[in-house]
Amino acid sequence: MTLMVWFVSLSFFTMAGGFAEEGRDAAAPSVVTGSGPGEATGGAQAAPAAGAIPAAPTVVSRLTEDGIHDPDNPSLSLLQEPAQALSGFPRDMKGGVDWIAVLDQGLIDPRADLKGEGSMDVLDLDILMKNTRSMPFVRFPHKSHTRWLDCENCHPDIFIPKLAANKVNMNEIFRGRFCGNCHGRVAFSVYVCQRCHSVPHAGSPGVWWK
Ligand code: HEC
Ligand code: HEC
Ligand code: HEC
Repeated sequence: MTLMVWFVSLSFFTMAGGFAEEGRDAAAPSVVTGSGPGEATGGAQAAPAAGAIPAAPTVVSRLTEDGIHDPDNPSLSLLQEPAQALSGFPRDMKGGVDWIAVLDQGLIDPRADLKGEGSMDVLDLDILMKNTRSMPFVRFPHKSHTRWLDCENCHPDIFIPKLAANKVNMNEIFRGRFCGNCHGRVAFSVYVCQRCHSVPHAGSPGVWWK
């Protein structure tokens, strides 16, 4: 319950980060990443409905154009523009905000609950998911997730907590199921393949992303 509070605000920033990262690939709007509030452009992107293939992401939106805030509200100017808030944050290989690095560097300090009195139940357990054909295997790190999320955010509704008990594939993920419940919505984009497919094997290309 309480987790939802910070999760909502995390969503906001992560979505903004996602836009920035995709701006480099997207053919459509002009690109801005971390160049200050005055220059950010781009349209809003609503979370895709379950079953829909997510639309190609855009760039960081200004508060007046994000489809979330009321552009006519005079108090809007009191809020910091996302492009400015995100400008000093470490980035992943595709230019999106690397939130785990942000956390590691102590740039943010999210609360486990509203009053900031609780602590997270962190589980340090990596799961190697090998059903990836010629793509590198997927390393799912419980630790990175349980610093922000409760077990119940994933178990048992999204994933049965049992090895290889979930029939995951990319089609399902792109349609917002399994990892796609969060990735491409509130966590980094599904198009940054290598952040999940991070463990090369004999039948896959080596590390091409460094
Ligand atoms: C958010 C994490 C994540 C991202 C990002 C991601 N994948 Fe996957 N992918 C998975 C998981 C989990 C599986 C299933 C692994 C298993 O069940 O053992 C998978 C499976 C696959 C498979 C084999 C099953 C299938 O659907 O054919 C392929 C191929 C694949 N991914 C390609 C890609 C490509 C290409 C990208 C980038 C466009 C990508 N993936 C991005 C998590 C991800
Ligand atoms: C972000 C989603 C997510 C969260 C949060 C999460 N898990 Fe998991 N968990 C997974 C995935 C994915 C698997 C692998 C399932 C598979 O192999 O099909 C898994 C597997 C497991 C397994 C089986 C591992 C094994 O070796 O048999 C256990 C036990 C488990 N989780 C416990 C927990 C506990 C306890 C927490 C909270 C501290 C937690 N998980 C939080 C996604 C999550
Ligand atoms: C309940 C939401 C949720 C689900 C489901 C989920 N993730 Fe995540 N994931 C997050 C959040 C939040 C972060 C941290 C924010 C970010 O990096 O964008 C994250 C970060 C990660 C990272 C970065 C870890 C690091 O140390 O840098 C990887 C890798 C990852 N997820 C893989 C997966 C894979 C693979 C699946 C499916 C098997 C999955 N996630 C399912 C929410 C989720």
